[in-house]
Amino acid sequence: MQNIMVTGGAGFIGSEFARSMVEKYPNYKIVVFDKLTYAGNLDNLLPISDNPNYAFVRGDITDHDAVERALTEHQIDTIVNFAAESHVDRSILNPDAFIQTDVVGVYVLLESARKLGVNRFHHVSTDEVYGSIPDGFFREGDPLEPNSPYAASKTGGEMMVRAYNVTYGMHTSVTRASNTFGPYQYPEKIAPFFITEALDDRPLPLYGDGMQVRDWLYVGDHCDAIDTVLHKGAPGSIYNIAGEHEMHNIDLTHFILQALDKPETLIRHVADRPGHDRRYALNNDKIREELGWSQKHTFEEAMAATVEWYKKNEWWWRKIKTGEYLEFYKAQYAERLETTE
Ligand code: NAD
Ligand code: TYD
Repeated sequence: MQNIMVTGGAGFIGSEFARSMVEKYPNYKIVVFDKLTYAGNLDNLLPISDNPNYAFVRGDITDHDAVERALTEHQIDTIVNFAAESHVDRSILNPDAFIQTDVVGVYVLLESARKLGVNRFHHVSTDEVYGSIPDGFFREGDPLEPNSPYAASKTGGEMMVRAYNVTYGMHTSVTRASNTFGPYQYPEKIAPFFITEALDDRPLPLYGDGMQVRDWLYVGDHCDAIDTVLHKGAPGSIYNIAGEHEMHNIDLTHFILQALDKPETLIRHVADRPGHDRRYALNNDKIREELGWSQKHTFEEAMAATVEWYKKNEWWWRKIKTGEYLEFYKAQYAERLETTE
């Protein structure tokens, strides 16, 4: 392994992975390949932009020619795929881009890799492929029952990865991780959205009763686990990555408000998300026992540091919260906030 193409590396988790891999492995070349959609942001890669073992290519993973050109030019031997449309609410408003990137795009990457003899392919997936679980924890062999267009498209992509392992013998691996938080997360997901809205004393639209449960994983731990699977994962393997920190959405909201010293009167219960998964929960035994991975951060310490990062880095998020962002905000929240439950 020497030349790694990190697709979707200008997004939240992919950029953390690129930043950490460039520092950790000076003998690897890290090539970020990203379309720069609304969620892709070169500011996320500024800390490594002058690094000699880093390169950026703007391209779309659904474009065979662009993918093959990048693989050839940079003599890529390994692909780590983060590229995706990643937000459930957007998939409810318009599923089309999700099918294109999360299903067709994964196929194009796999097929280009096969054609050019790139044999190591790691795919970043999500706990949402399992669907909702009222109690207990999903294990890697459990059936997949995705509920949103986002989750269904991620499941479709995963199935193509499986087929390329079984049919063509490609050394693939897949990780399915919990809800991830940290610096540089686009402020549409609950944590950065609520932190930045609260900083401006604006209302926080909490869906339904706020009693849905998510398991929270720090982005540094998520990327460390992917690195572990990339180096130690057997061909065709699948690993859950859990944060082992379940919270009701209402409690997460309280944590954020307390960290910012903002009043609870900012919370608004609004109409629920259609098809809203009640609880996600993963069992972490396989990655712990087989690969010896464990988390290095506690939720409290990492979320407090994350809140602090958004407080100190308004330069990063203020310019995002304009233009296209406000259009999405209007489509998503304006009416809901007027009809507060
Ligand atoms: P993100 O939305 O922040 O970033 C996605 C990146 O992919 C962006 O840089 C975007 O420009 C790029 N991209 C989108 N379409 C593309 C295309 N067609 N070609 C090339 N690049 C394209 O997403 P994220 O939160 O960093 O998630 C990264 C991956 O991790 C996704 O595959 C997601 O499904 C998975 N995941 C996310 C979470 C989470 O909580 N955020 C949890 C588990 C798994
Ligand atoms: P989100 O960050 O969109 O991640 P996911 O849907 O992938 O879990 O949402 C996390 C939880 O927070 C989910 O239960 C929906 C809820 N939520 C709200 O209550 N209000 C919001 O404005 C957002 C964005 C999410």
